[in-house]
Amino acid sequence: MISPETIRNIIETARIEEVIGEFVTIKKRGVNYIGLCPFHNEKTPSFTISPSKGIYKCFGCGKAGNAVNFIMEHEHYSYPEAIKYLAKKYNIEIEEEEQTPEQIQALNEKESLYHVSTFAQKHFSDNLFNNDEGKAIGLSYLKERDFSEETIKKFQLGYSLDKWDKFTEYALNNGYKLDYLTKTGLTISKENKNYDRFRARVIFPIHNLSGRIIGFGGRILTSEKNKPKYINSPESDIYNKSKVLYGIYFAKNAIININNCYLVEGYTDVISLHQAGINNVVASSGTSLTTEQIRLIKRYTPNITILYDGDEAGIKASFRGIDMILEQSMNVKIVLFPEGEDPDSFARNHRTSEVNEFINNKARDFIEFKTNLLLKETADDPLKKASLIKEIVNTISLIPDSIYRSVYIKKCSSMLDIPEQTLMNELNKILRNKFKKKHQTTFEEIPESTEFTAEKQIDVEINESEYQEKDIIRLLLLYGTKEIIFEIENEDKHIDKVPVKVSQFIINDLKADNISFQNKLYQLIFNEFVSALEDDFIPDDQFFINHKDEKISKLSIDIISSKYELSKNWEEKKSIYTETEEQKLKETVITSLLALKAKKIDIIILENQKEISKAENDEEIVILLEKQKSLKNISKIINAQLGRIITK
Ligand code: CTP
Ligand code: MN
Repeated sequence: MISPETIRNIIETARIEEVIGEFVTIKKRGVNYIGLCPFHNEKTPSFTISPSKGIYKCFGCGKAGNAVNFIMEHEHYSYPEAIKYLAKKYNIEIEEEEQTPEQIQALNEKESLYHVSTFAQKHFSDNLFNNDEGKAIGLSYLKERDFSEETIKKFQLGYSLDKWDKFTEYALNNGYKLDYLTKTGLTISKENKNYDRFRARVIFPIHNLSGRIIGFGGRILTSEKNKPKYINSPESDIYNKSKVLYGIYFAKNAIININNCYLVEGYTDVISLHQAGINNVVASSGTSLTTEQIRLIKRYTPNITILYDGDEAGIKASFRGIDMILEQSMNVKIVLFPEGEDPDSFARNHRTSEVNEFINNKARDFIEFKTNLLLKETADDPLKKASLIKEIVNTISLIPDSIYRSVYIKKCSSMLDIPEQTLMNELNKILRNKFKKKHQTTFEEIPESTEFTAEKQIDVEINESEYQEKDIIRLLLLYGTKEIIFEIENEDKHIDKVPVKVSQFIINDLKADNISFQNKLYQLIFNEFVSALEDDFIPDDQFFINHKDEKISKLSIDIISSKYELSKNWEEKKSIYTETEEQKLKETVITSLLALKAKKIDIIILENQKEISKAENDEEIVILLEKQKSLKNISKIINAQLGRIITK
């Protein structure tokens, strides 16, 4: 655990414009910086950074946060990873705090899984070079495949012996716990017996981004039909198949430098291309491509080139996966290898320059490629052609950027020999439907409050103090440290001007009336103020912007940046709106408090009403009616006060 002091130090040192500036081109505009939002596609900049507040906000897509949030969002880092990233950037030494036994256990468990995986890799590699069976069968197979010793060592390939439990026994003898052996899937426990998962196979270790071993693939060497050619480690706490790409550790630098990522089918293709000096290659290995894998590539480049062996049925099966890449606004190209060749065999049979030349010459834009392929199939069948058009336009509709979409519509119009307008109409139809669907789903997400039975109506009303609650939290966050002046008559009949901090006033007022928040998050923020004030400390906006609870920090940033949004112009330091709000701060605060109380009373009145209708005897009804009367009285008084202020 990183100590809170270190985290505070890092957050205070990090300049948000410097942190974001590494990823986004930003320009100074007044006191702020602006740039194109990295989280959605846009042509005119609405991504704004406020160095003084240490926050960013995109007025296009609504994403907002501080420096840590930015790194988390942009780099897909966890909170500790983002903190460590910033520490490194600013040369701050990380002080680790002592951990709780549970934390140590969780960490130790993961660490143990890594350790046992590395131990297994060493064992398998050792078999390959020092064991007779390993040398005779494993190593000679890999050499036959033209893998050089250098390549074998780089990818840490290995061999598992043709024995039932050789590895498991060896690991147990070396003090590795059975629990970790089964959790990584290296050992299979069945009816009190332990077996090695990998037997008589060449082993391909799978590395994570930082090069640690998280799993294995094993290829069979015989041609037994009833056994799978490849088997893989199951998922574990360290191996999440959908988030990992085979070869990414060895490829990431080349992907950045070349600004393109080659995607191939499996282990052998990755390794052969690397051996040929082509290093920007990864494989999704076994599973079909996932969004997480695409986003992983997108961290390094917006360009993907898929290298296929020439089987058309296989290509068509992967169209859906490619659509997903387009949805992530990446550029996709396809290279088709000659019949009977895959990237692995092609790389072995050709010189590096030939492979490069082949890839560069044959790379086709995906949508053009798909159009051509389907066009070949339709021949002169008009019905088939109609469904082809739908299919292609559907793919185009997935591209988030409208300019790219229209470029493709133009291209396909000439390829298919169909007027551009026809395709455009089809595209708009699809986009409209998507829009509708999206709204329908959000509509369905609304709790079933459409049927207004009496009881439900009350439930709905109960949640209605949300708006008033949020307003109080907003005032606390924006003006908590500001002072409002109260005039109090002293003993000598003189008027004393007493300054009170806004947060102090709000907290005391709500505590006096025992008012709490329905919204749990607001209550959390309120509680933070209460306990800070007890310590004679008034938390400012930075305290909440950089709060360790991400939910609190996110909400605070949203509320604080919405102050600027209201003014529609972040560049002006103070808008007319906020100017007046600040000038009339005392009135604003009092009005908001009264509005919250009025709402709370309304809710209690409704609840009481419900009680009355459910009451079983006269006595109960009388008591409840009495209560109702006094509640209504209070409501009247509060509303009268409110009315006086508002109409003044
Ligand atoms: N693959 C897999 N599971 C399978 C088959 C293939 O994970 N059942 C992956 C492997 O990563 C492999 C890649 O797909 O490297 C290519 O498949 P294939 O060419 O069949 O495997 P090779 O080991 O290259 O076999 P061959 O020598 O027959 O080409
Ligand atoms: Mn192959």
